[in-house]
Amino acid sequence: MQAAMDCDTIWDNARLVTLASDADSLRVIAHGRIAAKAGRIVYAGPRDKAPALDASRHIDCADRLVTPGLIDCHTHLVYAGSRAVEWENRLAGASYEEIARAGGGILSTMNATRTASEAELVAQSRPRLEALVAEGVTTVEIKSGYGLELATERRMLTAARSLGKACNVSVRTTFLGAHALPPEYADRADDYIDLVAEEMLPQLADEGLVDAVDAFCEGIGFTPAQTERVFVAARRLGLPVKLHAEQLSNLHGAALAARHNALSADHLEHLDADGIAAMARSGTVATLLPGAFYFTREQKPPPVAALREAGVPIAIATDCNPGTSPLTSLLLAMNMGATLFRLTVAECLAATTRNAARALGLSDAGVLAPGKWADIAIWNLSEPAELVYRMGSNPLHARYRRGL
Ligand code: NIG
Ligand code: FE
Repeated sequence: MQAAMDCDTIWDNARLVTLASDADSLRVIAHGRIAAKAGRIVYAGPRDKAPALDASRHIDCADRLVTPGLIDCHTHLVYAGSRAVEWENRLAGASYEEIARAGGGILSTMNATRTASEAELVAQSRPRLEALVAEGVTTVEIKSGYGLELATERRMLTAARSLGKACNVSVRTTFLGAHALPPEYADRADDYIDLVAEEMLPQLADEGLVDAVDAFCEGIGFTPAQTERVFVAARRLGLPVKLHAEQLSNLHGAALAARHNALSADHLEHLDADGIAAMARSGTVATLLPGAFYFTREQKPPPVAALREAGVPIAIATDCNPGTSPLTSLLLAMNMGATLFRLTVAECLAATTRNAARALGLSDAGVLAPGKWADIAIWNLSEPAELVYRMGSNPLHARYRRGL
């Protein structure tokens, strides 16, 4: 008789969507089983094809839909303060760019964040992370970028890491020093980029706080040449890059990011055909942020049909931030991806699992397959479409990160 496969936990009676390949995006395995040992999957598939298994912990999914834990691959959820009043002014007609140019916007959050202690940052940010976690999110990317000087950028990154531990969620930290020009560097953007690339980034990377490097390439952000200097510094340190690109205008940031083998280019409403071709060549993920599109009343959707045609992998994220997307529901972002951007249900699911993992450079998350983390979401649903269809309700039954 075959010896029982070594595992410690079995999830049984799952309506399993593994996302193990693109073709699996909507395939429901009706009588599915997952087995894991020490937080890693050893089997995921039909129960009747499973090897003999022996485990001390059995979890009955009772014919519920089971997917990989969701991944929010673009957030700015660590910050202090609120921009609700700025938003009221925008309702009265002021534009996001006008407010930024008048010293509000990102700089107003910078002021609040610079004066917050790490404990205050954690306390203010925790409800935002908890809201994501309550909807089945098991991995979150969190950016710095509201400090714009070393000590506060560091505090944002350490706050993000400690939130991950406190909330049982895998956190990937991205250094976004090139988010906006701080007032002490007014009219000296190149000097600020020197500081970001030559001092802040090497120091924070040396402290082990940086998983990836991002920048805001835009008229109200940084030029492509300045962005490229940040990318060169990142790659010298062996760190992957990503970019806020083509959000408000087309500065050809996506093509620049692709030339630096970026993990992702994000936003992309104003992306053109050359940018799409460059992303396809480099395998750069297109991370779409429908919450920001909605909240800024952007009129031009990203070129989804052309991205699809070119075979560019598409991710969706909340972009959770106080200015353009105060959104803490990845499920609502998926719904908006379908309704506002015309993504299919299969694309929306892949966009917050396997493709979101890729946008973070993670090879062991986002799919349910042997060797991957047992990051699992169990839903009070039976069909994948229901996950994308609903608005404002939370169908999560249970979630596990690394089996726990
Ligand atoms: O992703 N575009 C730049 N960064 C954020 C907004 C940050 C803010 O307004 O606080 C974004 O839209
Ligand atoms: Fe963003």
